Order: sequence, then structure tokens, then C-alpha cells
Amino acid sequence: MIHSEPTAFDNVDGALRAKLTTLIDEGWEIWDKFDSEVRQKNWHPFVPADYERMLPALLALRAPGRTFLEWGSATGIVTIMADLLGYEAFGIELDAPLVDVAKGLAERHHSRARFAAGSFVPAGYRWKPTHGDDRPGTIGDGSSAYPALGHPLEDFDVVYGYPWTGEEPMMQNLMRTYGNKNARLLLNGPDGVRLYSGDRFETLTPIDVIR
Ligand SMILES: C[S@@+](CC[C@H](N)C(=O)[O-])C[C@H]1O[C@@H](n2cnc3c(N)ncnc32)[C@H](O)[C@@H]1O
Repeated sequence: MIHSEPTAFDNVDGALRAKLTTLIDEGWEIWDKFDSEVRQKNWHPFVPADYERMLPALLALRAPGRTFLEWGSATGIVTIMADLLGYEAFGIELDAPLVDVAKGLAERHHSRARFAAGSFVPAGYRWKPTHGDDRPGTIGDGSSAYPALGHPLEDFDVVYGYPWTGEEPMMQNLMRTYGNKNARLLLNGPDGVRLYSGDRFETLTPIDVIR
């Protein structure tokens, strides 16, 4: 008998698996081009998550009617994956040309995922950490994109971000300040995808690390 290694796709039915695989393959092709044409010449904050590693996290949290928001959605792959999995999915990205790429991908993959150019930081927010270093890392400045999305941060059930090292506390603070008390925050990182939840995120505890 042949035993094959389990994969993230094992719990996904055939038609959906094919759609996700095609999307992810195109996502890696776009990334390779972006890396050689843009990122090798000038530093850029877009580095993609391991899309296959995101799949179990998205599967674990999906439920009918659940809303999903990606902070810094870049080429939109994770947001489109969420839409294909049944979330009402939205992405916000500061770099407008990347938003155009995401919208084109959504159209080609028959996804209703919606994208807005601008910042995922709500207007008027000021990051004030207890340790005093209030630099936001690679989290850039721009007009808040929530008005263009037509939803405030409080409307989202699942919020996902891929912070650079040191940016996690600001993302957690954004959820504490503006997030829905029942929302989940997914943060991608070197050890896997961390899931945070809690009453208004006051006791923000990693309740699982999805590898
Ligand atoms: C590390 S990449 C993650 C890309 C994607 N979320 C993923 O997981 O594959 C971070 C992205 O956030 C974007 N970004 C940085 N600051 C932002 C802000 N304030 N509002 C919206 N997007 C931002 C960057 O342009 C970049 O595309």
C-alpha cells in the first residue's frame, strides 16, 4: 500500500482543491516576478506568507457568513483563498498597484473578494507602546481604507496579518482598540500561524499555533 504524506488540502473537496491549487500556483508565479522586477531593485515590505500553511488556519475558523479581513493584502492570495472557502472576504493594501493585481486575480478566479487601497490603520490611531518605542516598523502610513471598504474594523470576525518582527504588539493593540470582542486575530510568523482571541483582546493569549 502506498502511504502519501498528509497535506493541507486533504480536508478540501476536489473542485475547491483544484481552484485553490491554481490560485496558489499563480500567486507564487506573481511573487517570483515581483521579487525579480521590484524587490531585488528596491526594498519593499511585501513578502508572501506560505499559502499552504495558511490553509489549515482558514479552514479551522470558517463558518457560514463569517467575515474576513487581510491587513496588507499585497497580491490578494490569502483574501481570495478565504473567499473561495466561504468567508465574506476583504483585503486592504497600501501599495495601489498591488491592489490592482489582487483585483485582477479575483476576477480571473471568479472570486467576490473585495480590495481597497489605503491603510489598515484606522484614522486617528496613535501607537503608544508601554516600552516607549512607538516606531510602527514596516507598517506604512496612508489614508485609512475602511471608508472605501464600507466596513469598520469592528465588522470583521477574522482578521489576518503578517507582521514583520516587532510589529505584532501594534497589530494586537489595533484589535484591542477597534476589533469586535468576538473577533479572532491570525498572525503569521516564523513558528506558524498564531490565533488570538479573547474579550476585547484584553487577555491576549495565543490559543493555538497552527503549523
Ligand atoms: C509581510 S507583507 C504580507 C503580505 C500578505 N498579507 C501575505 O500574508 O502574504 C505586508 C504587506 O503589508 C503592506 N502594508 C504595510 N503597511 C500597511 C498599511 N498601513 N496598510 C495597508 N497595507 C500595509 C505592505 O505593502 C505589504 O504588502
